[in-house]
Amino acid sequence: MRKKILAANWKMYKTPDQATAFFQEFLPLVQDHDRDEIVVCPNYIALPAAIHAAKGSRVAIGAQNLHWEKEGAYTGEICTSMLVAIGVTHVIIGHSERRQYFCETDDTVNLKLKSALAAGLTPIVCVGEVLEEREANLTDDVLRRQCLRAFNKVSAKKAASLVVAYEPVWAIGTGKTATPELAADAHAIIRAEAADSFGQEFADNLRILYGGSVKPENAHALMSEEEIDGALVGGASLDPKSFAAIVKY
Ligand code: PGA
Repeated sequence: MRKKILAANWKMYKTPDQATAFFQEFLPLVQDHDRDEIVVCPNYIALPAAIHAAKGSRVAIGAQNLHWEKEGAYTGEICTSMLVAIGVTHVIIGHSERRQYFCETDDTVNLKLKSALAAGLTPIVCVGEVLEEREANLTDDVLRRQCLRAFNKVSAKKAASLVVAYEPVWAIGTGKTATPELAADAHAIIRAEAADSFGQEFADNLRILYGGSVKPENAHALMSEEEIDGALVGGASLDPKSFAAIVKY
């Protein structure tokens, strides 16, 4: 049995005070919930407030990005040792918004994945097709290419903590959710690629999250699919009651 992960991606929302206020309301709602893992990924500047607020709870804190170099002259960037030093345990890599707006490529995703794993961070690597690719029946190829390049020269042993998030780009922030069946099919493609890269046993244990307009209303149906091992939630994770409802699907 793969333990599910319910992860919040706050994107560019919430000041440190707003992050603190979120946890004051959210933590009591999930304090007895140990069925799943819960991760919240605030922006960099709200990370310390979130870590402080979540201390002693079951909620882990993740970053939304990292730079792969150990340190150096990279203005505006944050590296793994800085994240680890403040208590960050997870990191989202290769989100479609970063691929779309900030020149993230499969190769930089690979560099970031290696760097996160070396630092002991749990990476959540995002993959997913855009609408034109789905309509052209290219979903399978796109997912396989994104995974193959992301996993390049990463060993199964090193990748043990890897988590993948399938986020069809056409479903992000649009209110259009993939049907549970469609998501499960995509997850099976990713799992097959992980089996090729890392072996069948690794693939059987790999957690693949679904992301794209997950809400309290559709979380149960999505999470009931055997192939779906959790969710990466954007918009609906900003409100404590809504994210708690998703966590408890
Ligand atoms: P959404 O975002 O839930 O607002 O669609 C998901 C994501 O981008 O991770």
